[in-house]
Amino acid sequence: MMIDRTRLARLLDRERDAFRERNPRSAAAYEQARGHLFGGVPMTWMNKTAAGFPLYLAEARGARVTDLDGHDYVDLCLGDTGAMAGHSPQPTVEAVADRFGRRGGATVMMPTEDAAWVGAELGRRFGVPYWSFSLTATDANRWAIRLARAITGRPKILVNSYCYHGSVDEVLLVVGPDGRQVSREGNVGAPVDPTVTSRVVEFNDLPALERELAYGDVAAVLMEPALTNIGIVLPEPGYLEGVRDLTRRYGSLLINDETHTFSAGPGGCTKAWDLRPDIVTIGKAIGGGIPSGGYGLSAEVAARVEAMDGLDLVDMGGVGGTLAGNALSVAAMRATLEHVLTGDAFAAMTELATRFTKGVQEVIDAHGLPWSVTRLGARAEYRFTRPAPRNGGESNAAGDPGLDDYLHVYLANRGVLLTPFHNMALMSPATTEADVDLHHEVFAAAVAELVAS
Ligand SMILES: Cc1ncc(COP(=O)(O)O)c(C=O)c1O
Repeated sequence: MMIDRTRLARLLDRERDAFRERNPRSAAAYEQARGHLFGGVPMTWMNKTAAGFPLYLAEARGARVTDLDGHDYVDLCLGDTGAMAGHSPQPTVEAVADRFGRRGGATVMMPTEDAAWVGAELGRRFGVPYWSFSLTATDANRWAIRLARAITGRPKILVNSYCYHGSVDEVLLVVGPDGRQVSREGNVGAPVDPTVTSRVVEFNDLPALERELAYGDVAAVLMEPALTNIGIVLPEPGYLEGVRDLTRRYGSLLINDETHTFSAGPGGCTKAWDLRPDIVTIGKAIGGGIPSGGYGLSAEVAARVEAMDGLDLVDMGGVGGTLAGNALSVAAMRATLEHVLTGDAFAAMTELATRFTKGVQEVIDAHGLPWSVTRLGARAEYRFTRPAPRNGGESNAAGDPGLDDYLHVYLANRGVLLTPFHNMALMSPATTEADVDLHHEVFAAAVAELVAS
C-alpha cells in the first residue's frame, strides 16, 4: 500500500486549518511571545509542532491536559517521558508542598535524609549502589562520562548511531551513509568535531563495536539498552550480552542511560533484562515532573574514583551543579518512587501499552500498511517501515515527516496528544483503557481517510 502524497498534502492542509481555527488563544499567545522569546517559545524545541504553533498549557492532571482554548486531551506524550508518573501525581504534589511550603527550603547547600533513601531505592532497582544527583539526564550523562574518562585515562566515548543522550557534546555524531563517522547534521557550535572525542557504531552491530573498541581509546560505551529516540529499536538476542563481554574485554566501562528505557519496568531494562552496567544514568520521570536526575556507580567504579589523586570532585572540577540534588528535587524523587512509579503501577502501564500496540497493529494489518509498532514496557511507537528497524540508521531512513505531521495534527484536533518528536505513546499510572481506545478510534479514522480510494 503506497501513500498517495497529493492526498496526504491535502489532508494535512485541512487539518492544519482546523487546528488554527480551534486554537485562537494559543495562536494569540504565541504571536505575543514572539516579541520577547527567542523563536517565540520558552525553549526552541517547542517549535517542533505539526501545525505551525504550539498549544499552550492551561492545566494538567494525571493523563489529561487542558489547553488555553479549553480543549481536553488524552496525553500520550507525557512530557516525552518527564511525566511518565502522570501530571502532578498527588504523593509528589504533597511531598513538594511539604518540603518547599510547610518545612521550607529547596536550595540550601545542605543534604536532606530523602537523598539517601532515593539512592538506596535506585540502587535496589538498578543494581548499582552509589548515587549522585543532577537536575537533568543530560547532566547525569555529562558527569558520568567525565568520571569514566578520569578513571580509565582514555579520551573517547562510544555511542550508537542516532542515539540521543541530551545535549552532550560527545554523543552528537552518526554513522554516515558511506559508513564514515560524522557529526550529526545541524550540530550547533560543537567545540571540536565529535569524531575527535567519540566513536559511533550502529545498534545491534557487535562486529563494528569490537572493531572500534579494539583501538583501546574508549573510556565508556554510553547507550540505551533499547534505542528510544529514533523510534524504538529493540536489542536482538545476545546483543546486550555481547556488548557487556566486549566492553569488559577491551577495558571500557558500560553506561546504561535508562532515562527513557525506564518504561521497561521499575528498574528499567537493567533490571528487566538482568544487565550489569558499570554506571546507570537517569532523569526525567523519576522526579514526577520536578527537575531530577542522577547517576549510579558500581562499587568498583566508585572505588576507582576514590582511589584517584587530584580529582576535584567538590569545586570546579567539572562534575556538579549548585542546584543538583537539592532538597525539593530529592523529596519529589522519593515520593514518586515510593508511591507512584511502583512495581504495581508498571504492571498496569505495561498492560495498557500492550493494548495500545495490539490496536495499532490491527489498523496496520487491516490496510496492509508497511508500518510497524514496537513496545518497550509502558511505551510504544509506530514507525513507517516493516519489519521494525534493527538499528538507528535504518530507522532514520524510514522517517516520514509528512505522515508524522498528519497523524499528530489529526489526533490533536480530536483530543489525543502524541510526543512531538516521535509517534510515541506512553502510559502513566493514571492512563485508562478508554484513553487508549480513543487513540485507536482516531488513529483508525486518520488512516482510513488517508488510504481511501
Ligand atoms: C535517553 C535520554 N537520555 C538523556 C536525555 C536528556 O534528557 P534531558 O533533556 O532531560 O536532560 C534524553 C532526552 O530525551 C534521553 O532520551
